Amino acid sequence: MSVNKIAPSILAADYANFASELARIEETNAEYVHIDIMDGQFVPNISFGADVVASMRKHSKLVFDCHLMVVNPERYITSFAQAGADIMTIHVESTNHIHGALQKIKASGMKAGVVINPGTPVEALKPLLAIVDQVLIMTVNPGFGGQAFIEDCLDKVKAVSKLREELMLDFDIEVDGGVDNQTISSCKKAGANVFVAGSYLFKAKDLVSQVQTLREALND
Ligand code: DX5
Ligand code: ZN
Repeated sequence: MSVNKIAPSILAADYANFASELARIEETNAEYVHIDIMDGQFVPNISFGADVVASMRKHSKLVFDCHLMVVNPERYITSFAQAGADIMTIHVESTNHIHGALQKIKASGMKAGVVINPGTPVEALKPLLAIVDQVLIMTVNPGFGGQAFIEDCLDKVKAVSKLREELMLDFDIEVDGGVDNQTISSCKKAGANVFVAGSYLFKAKDLVSQVQTLREALND
């Protein structure tokens, strides 16, 4: 069985205070910090790039789970590796050369993740499952925090989990978007073990106890 991991999304934090926000995340004992990179092209929103991640690295020993929502993310593999990213997850919809890009991520020393949007079928992942460390199933359309969880995406989590078993592979299954203390249980039941949460966590003053509510929901 894969270990459950909570990944607070820094997209929902205070951008003017990344160092203290990272310290708050560290206090919660979350396994990852999820870092959303958006280019204003693949998704409408713009966030930040590798230089900001490199600055964050100086303030944190947390596992940096970088989710790139950018066109042709292969252009940034070297800069994210140098910035200190631990996991680099890229969209099948974002490049014509997804297999090669994932190989390059692994060769650069990072863990490689692949992600699909709600409109993309699981079939697109099949040729990639043997080479990835993590599969991310988006449970909202990417670009913004605070959106409603798309229940239908859970069928894809189930399908990927079944394929993992059939093919005797070993990768984490992550969900991202609209995850809270209600939706997290169905994600876990479907087969996910890495749970990204942004607005649900950061809307609370006490991040430690809010993360705890997710852990409790996972144990129900
Ligand atoms: C959305 C991002 C998410 C976002 C999730 O495009 O990939 O990581 O931070 O935010 P919530 O948890 O608020 O849906
Ligand atoms: Zn994300």
